Amino acid sequence: MEKLKSLLRNPGGRLFLITEENVDVLVMPLLEAEEEEIAAIPRLVIPAGEENKTIERAQQIWEWLLENGASRSDTLICVGGGMLTDIGGFAAATFKRGMRHVNIATTLLAAADASVGGKTGVNMGGVKNCVGAFSMPLFTEVYAPAFATLPEAEMLSGYGEMLKTAMIGEPGMLPRLLEPETLLADTALLGEIASECARIKMRIVESDPFEKGPRKVLNLGHTFGHALESLCMEKGRPVPHGVAVAHGLLFMMVMARMKGVGGSMLYSFADRVVKPLMKVPPVMCGDYARLLGLMHADKKNDGPGEVKFVLLTDAGEPLIDVPVDDATVEAAIDIYRDMGF
Ligand SMILES: NC(=O)c1ccc[n+]([C@@H]2O[C@H](COP(=O)([O-])OP(=O)(O)OC[C@H]3O[C@@H](n4cnc5c(N)ncnc54)[C@H](O)[C@@H]3O)[C@@H](O)[C@H]2O)c1
Ligand SMILES: [Zn+2]
Repeated sequence: MEKLKSLLRNPGGRLFLITEENVDVLVMPLLEAEEEEIAAIPRLVIPAGEENKTIERAQQIWEWLLENGASRSDTLICVGGGMLTDIGGFAAATFKRGMRHVNIATTLLAAADASVGGKTGVNMGGVKNCVGAFSMPLFTEVYAPAFATLPEAEMLSGYGEMLKTAMIGEPGMLPRLLEPETLLADTALLGEIASECARIKMRIVESDPFEKGPRKVLNLGHTFGHALESLCMEKGRPVPHGVAVAHGLLFMMVMARMKGVGGSMLYSFADRVVKPLMKVPPVMCGDYARLLGLMHADKKNDGPGEVKFVLLTDAGEPLIDVPVDDATVEAAIDIYRDMGF
């Protein structure tokens, strides 16, 4: 937490802090015990949960900043998971045309993914991240002690995204990630690896800040993962995002094998990670058409009768925009189901 310490000592303007109700109860007392200056910073606590990532909540943040006399030279400290860092970053990016913000990540997903990269925003009209802005935080800190209170679903969600990032950016990290029992019980180690994932994401984002091309590698596992996530939601059996992503990574390995470019980890990944931990309702015969429809609806995919995937080769090199025809996608779903999913 060196960067936070240094900001607290030299704020270069006034500091404001926003968080949400769960983090306020579970994490803020720990943080205040470590950094006593934090208790004196004006704080707004908003309700927790994705349903509060709205323009009305953003307005509440703007009004609170205004009432407290915040200016463009001040800094908003956003403490929480991805929901909080998304809305906090957005409120800061737009208040008086942009004040600085910093993120203190308290979930594994935020630490490894959501709190870095500069995408901020809120949901609207049922569309996720419908309104937002690209705005880089001044810095992000990972507060690993917070992971001790994370519910299991949140833990697995972050873990799924960490697997993805390691696969595309640093395959050498995988052996440590493929020991989930050891890893998920060790908050300090999780914090270390999540920070490494965040650095990998930043490296990729910096090469393509507005998502024109190379950043697409971050969608590894997400074409099938998003479709499966939506399907499970429609069945009334929602699964955590990162769990669906882990299945998407497995599915990507099936296709990489079918195309003869990769997938050598397929069975070890299935046995060590997906089968024991990443539980989802099974895909049924009647689900193929819906899954394909959802993959086609994915905004990154164009071309009739084909779906574009990111595939990882055995050399650790991701291939982006690989077109796969519908018949091959269906055959890959067959293999995925034959593996016991
Ligand atoms: N900006 C990006 O690049 C990006 C990338 C991925 C995801 N996201 C966004 O991130 C959000 C999902 O992130 P998330 O899973 O962190 O969501 P979240 O912030 O809603 O946190 C999940 C749950 O964990 C609770 N929580 C947070 N910290 C805790 C702690 N230390 N102990 C116990 N409970 C805690 C929260 O109150 C909430 O109930 C979504 O809104 C998604 O759109 C953004
Ligand atoms: Zn994701």
